[in-house]
Amino acid sequence: MKKIAILTSGGDAPGMNAALRAAVRSAIYYGMEVYGIERGYEGLIDGDIRQMDVSSVGDIMHRGGTILGTARSERFMTQEGQKRAVGMLENFEIEGLVVIGGDGSLRGGLELSKKGVRVMGIPGTIDNDLAYTDFTIGFDTAVNTVLGAISNIRDTSSAHERSTVIEVMGRRCGDIALYAGLTGGAETILIPEIPVDINALCRKVIQGRNRGKKHNLIIKAEGVNISSQELAAVIGERTGVDTKIVVLGYIQRGGSPTARDRMLASRMASKAVELLKDDSLSKAIGISGDCIVEYDLEEALHMGREFETDIMKLADILSI
Ligand code: F6P
Repeated sequence: MKKIAILTSGGDAPGMNAALRAAVRSAIYYGMEVYGIERGYEGLIDGDIRQMDVSSVGDIMHRGGTILGTARSERFMTQEGQKRAVGMLENFEIEGLVVIGGDGSLRGGLELSKKGVRVMGIPGTIDNDLAYTDFTIGFDTAVNTVLGAISNIRDTSSAHERSTVIEVMGRRCGDIALYAGLTGGAETILIPEIPVDINALCRKVIQGRNRGKKHNLIIKAEGVNISSQELAAVIGERTGVDTKIVVLGYIQRGGSPTARDRMLASRMASKAVELLKDDSLSKAIGISGDCIVEYDLEEALHMGREFETDIMKLADILSI
């Protein structure tokens, strides 16, 4: 394979630039021509495609966001949009495509692969919601960002003897809440995978106060089926403890990637390019233990997610 292209799609994630850098430089190292597509599938449909060289990815490893830009493309959801995208790759004689993004973006890649394009999917999303890989690029940075926020909120929460609901991202997957909650020493973690037990939560607030605890932190993923406002109101009414809400929002998506995310991005992207060099069929790149692994793209996207009950149990034990 001589000509490949790269795009970033969906919600941006810290480490996407590190992945882009590794893909571009690996491709050049192996003697391939490499193109960057702007604004994900939107730019592909519009032909916003430019050749990348070694210096076009210089000085970006440490930056959050994505220098290619990203989008959630409505047009690409249609057959017509996908046809145009394939045609555009043909116009540029691009034989292989690296897609860096979350579940929806990799599913978009799968549609292209069904139309004859060789696609390598790299999991780039803070949500860590792809079943086939232990971790996605950006997740570690997001967890560390939340951890910083938890420390600050704990200070003021203790000073005022308040309870605080901290809402983090994660519509279907509670991993950010779970990992940040455990490592941040939260009293309660609420995730979409487990129904909310209001009685247990309120009991913990009261027991903590009776033991002289000054703060009570509840980390709640956004996908939990009770709003943070409603939850804070119920806790306040049932326990008498003043309860505040902090919604962390997009702060979790930005920032300089951690060493762990940079390493993951570099290893996965380089692997994707090696596979294209060797004319591999479409794959999803992931990590299992400390090994970079690849699966058939379609099979990877059909794998079911197993929720890490042991981590939740540990968080429960440690927050008694
Ligand atoms: O990137 C994933 C994610 O951050 C989700 O957790 C969140 O709900 C969603 O993206 C919001 O993204 P946007 O508002 O950009 O569509």
